[in-house]
Amino acid sequence: MEEKLLMVKEKLAKYGQEHLLNFYNELSEDKKSELLDEILTIDFKQVEDLYESTKTKPDFTESKIEPIPHITKSELSNEEIEKYTKIGEQIIKQGKLAVVTMAGGQGTRLGHSGPKGTFDIGLSSHKSIFEILCDNFKLAKEKYDIVIPWYLMTSEENHQDTVKFFEENNYFNYPKEAVQFFKQGTLPMLNKEGKVLLNELKMPKQAPDGHGGVFEAMRKNGVIYNMKERGIEWVFISGVDNVLVKPIDPVLTAIATEKNMLVASKSLVKANPKEKVGVFCKKDGKPSVIEYTEISDEMANAKDENGELLYGESHILCNQFNIKILEELANNKLPYHVAVKKASYINENGEYVVPEEPNAYKFESFLFDAFSLIPEMLILRVKREEEFAPVKNAEGVDSPETARNLYNNYYHLS
Ligand code: UTP
Repeated sequence: MEEKLLMVKEKLAKYGQEHLLNFYNELSEDKKSELLDEILTIDFKQVEDLYESTKTKPDFTESKIEPIPHITKSELSNEEIEKYTKIGEQIIKQGKLAVVTMAGGQGTRLGHSGPKGTFDIGLSSHKSIFEILCDNFKLAKEKYDIVIPWYLMTSEENHQDTVKFFEENNYFNYPKEAVQFFKQGTLPMLNKEGKVLLNELKMPKQAPDGHGGVFEAMRKNGVIYNMKERGIEWVFISGVDNVLVKPIDPVLTAIATEKNMLVASKSLVKANPKEKVGVFCKKDGKPSVIEYTEISDEMANAKDENGELLYGESHILCNQFNIKILEELANNKLPYHVAVKKASYINENGEYVVPEEPNAYKFESFLFDAFSLIPEMLILRVKREEEFAPVKNAEGVDSPETARNLYNNYYHLS
């Protein structure tokens, strides 16, 4: 232990993070050891670089932005839909599709105390979001006579509660052995001076590293390997909070296969030029998503020869990846984006502080930054009322109420 303590002290001194041991002597022996181990896992060089990155703003003006083609599902003929459905169903029945649900986010806007997936959006059945998602798998089991593997990405913060919820609910009567959980990575949260914050347990305050962390987490936890062993070819990856998500989609799978695409994404038509959504585009010749904060007014309003927005395909975090590309994506570091958040912490006097203003840097990578690593991708425009009912905010837009109404309308429930 003494040796480890010395090692930790040396590491912290090198990076000016000695305050992390301020309360070391107050901790139990177990906690002391836990703290040292945790500090040793932190890459402080990376922390230093992340802090430096907060001092500069990314410059997008240099990038060449162009429109990217898409296919509109509703414009396909009945024959095409029939053909693709057949091909896709064949792939699914052969057990070549798996699904990953990214449920590691903190869900701060919703403000629910447990994992977002455990939330009851107020359907008359009172199904949780996890159970609503699970219905897709149960339906596919009936329809295709196949148990589709379901992987859930959790975070350090919500892993235990998530697994417990599934256990308590008997995996919603889906075969338990088909469900696997894996934890995503974390990154320390920093104060405005670049010091790692301490949480209420006097341990480094860490937060999930963003949905872009999914690829690395899949590799590190052996998920990609496990999928390969199972003969999986396609992996649908989406968030936990869209209660109309259609993760088992024969048409998407078939078009991607037929067109030899390694990534296939679903999009929705942007409601109006000002809607605050990221849209698909080509950035310097590569597929990309441009955030509403990055797009100029001129580009946002530009129309094509049919009068449609040139940059009108919204990204809804519904993406399907071929297993061949997943490993490559997992071996590439995605950039981190910084957000300034309100984060409670223990100050130098050992007092618990709940700030009223944003006080801390949080770093996250975004899944769609991985698109720039592939030459081409399929974008399939689907219908909003059929596939998108997000639960983001406690009230107002994208809230449990709007999601519930969309869900009930789609399933003709009340
Ligand atoms: P959001 O960006 O909407 O974040 O995530 P959030 O955590 O749900 O909510 P806020 O911003 O704190 O209010 C979109 C999807 O990506 C997952 C979320 O669980 C959600 O399904 N996600 C996000 C992760 O799995 N890990 C992350 O680190 C971030």
